Amino acid sequence: QVSWKLADHPTLPKGKTLALIVLDGWGEYKPDEYNCIHVAQTPTMDSLKQGAPEKWRLIRAHGKAVGLPTEDDMGNSEVGHNALGAGRIFAQGAKLVDIALASGKIYEGEGFKYISECFEKGTLHLIGLLSDGGVHSRLDQLQLLLKGASERGAKRIRVHILTDGRDVLDGSSVGFVETLEIDLAKLRENGVDARIASGGGRMYVTMDRYENDWDVVKRGWDAQVRGEAPHKFTNAVEAVKKLRENANDQYLPPFVIVDENEKAVGPIEDGDAVVTFNFRADRMVMLAKALEHQDFDKFDRVKVPKIRYAGMLQYDGELKLPGRYLVSPPEIDRTSGEYLVHNGVRTFACSETVKFGHVTFFWNGNRSGYFNPEMEEYAEIPSDVGITFNVQPKMKALEIGEKARDAILSRKFDQVRVNIPNGDMVGHTGDIQATVVACKAADEAVKMIIEAIEQVGGIYVVTADHGNAEDMVKRNKSGQPLYDKSGKLQILTSHTCQPVPIAIGGPGLAAGVRFRNDVPDGGLANVAATVMNLHGYVAPNDYEPTLIEVVNN
Ligand code: 3PG
Ligand code: CO
Repeated sequence: QVSWKLADHPTLPKGKTLALIVLDGWGEYKPDEYNCIHVAQTPTMDSLKQGAPEKWRLIRAHGKAVGLPTEDDMGNSEVGHNALGAGRIFAQGAKLVDIALASGKIYEGEGFKYISECFEKGTLHLIGLLSDGGVHSRLDQLQLLLKGASERGAKRIRVHILTDGRDVLDGSSVGFVETLEIDLAKLRENGVDARIASGGGRMYVTMDRYENDWDVVKRGWDAQVRGEAPHKFTNAVEAVKKLRENANDQYLPPFVIVDENEKAVGPIEDGDAVVTFNFRADRMVMLAKALEHQDFDKFDRVKVPKIRYAGMLQYDGELKLPGRYLVSPPEIDRTSGEYLVHNGVRTFACSETVKFGHVTFFWNGNRSGYFNPEMEEYAEIPSDVGITFNVQPKMKALEIGEKARDAILSRKFDQVRVNIPNGDMVGHTGDIQATVVACKAADEAVKMIIEAIEQVGGIYVVTADHGNAEDMVKRNKSGQPLYDKSGKLQILTSHTCQPVPIAIGGPGLAAGVRFRNDVPDGGLANVAATVMNLHGYVAPNDYEPTLIEVVNN
């Protein structure tokens, strides 16, 4: 039985309106021409930095500080928002899958037993993101799973690949497909009929999120389940090379692999098993619904084979989706959102569609919906659909700022929480000029929210979930930009391992509140206790320590 009552903070008052602003993809890095935050005009964020060290500092947002396997793992929004919301560091999907594969436990669980009952007569289909980005999936985990499943009776395997270029360099898809083909060839030598069956770029095929654009999932469904796509090839490496002539990895159109009679080699049929091998939830939930829900109506599936489906993880603990999974997800319980609601903190959360689940679902420990609808309001601003965000780099920053401002001025909420997506979503396109525009727009949204906080005598906390826009090129160890064989600058579309800023302020911030200097390694997980303090409460004992102290002067 959880005791939800939080102790009163000994000195800090309750009842101040607090704005909690998360800039997505906004890290701190040396100022050069590839640091879009530095290049952009960002007067608001610059002025906050003037408050260092008492009111501005850096915190860790990658690697072990957010529950990832190694210090080389860049941060991402899932683990970042989990840590921000939960106030503790949980071993995340990437690590849990590593452990389950290494120990072999993955093959002993209910999920694997369930799908393996199809191995005798059916095909095992593996669908997911093919890269070593470590954000949604990892190639080495797929390789181990292929080996493990074939050793345990899978005789016919079809892999449906989604090319990346977003968590890894654009163009790297070719190498990943080549690596996979070598593995599949080895399996074939051992008598397993293993092949790539279909593919497409992650942003155009299958991996939409937060129901922004169901057409993306439909394109994948048609290729994976029905064996239908506008492009047909007999070889996946060739497919990716050819399609790359007109699109980058993220946006490759769907293709199917066919035999000499032009027949798709691996549509999903009755009696087959399907595993989605991404461990991260947001971009697999929609496909999981299409695979699992009987009454699914988001698009016409045309063909609904009777399959046994398991996720690498369970993607949504509240919806129990999917019902079967190979590895149990982290049990992110007792999040700060749940505590605060129990303690009377009325909460408003807002972003545009592409990041909406970040400040709600991820924030609340991968849980859908409200804890208490009477205490909470979540507002989603529809994202632009069918464009790449370098075309509209301002995205909905202004609208998010306005919604937050209105929520603050309404005085109906104690916490107003937003995610401002620009630095991240535009940074992922690799378009440097557009990312500069994006950063400026994000800064303007922060300004708007801080002004509202000033009007109501409130407090603001401004931070970020991980780096992205502050570094747009791949670099060598000494920080010099790298060029490819043809002399072209290697653009970094992915996140980074840089720390992120956190700033506190506002007229409601009690005198004497400042950042402590005895948590130098503080990270995103330290923010929850900090915010609880600013709401007038002491965080639970097992939360990571607060970043602030109150000094009498
Ligand atoms: C994506 O899904 O867009 C990227 O892989 C990671 O971006 P995010 O972690 O910022 O959402
Ligand atoms: Co991102």
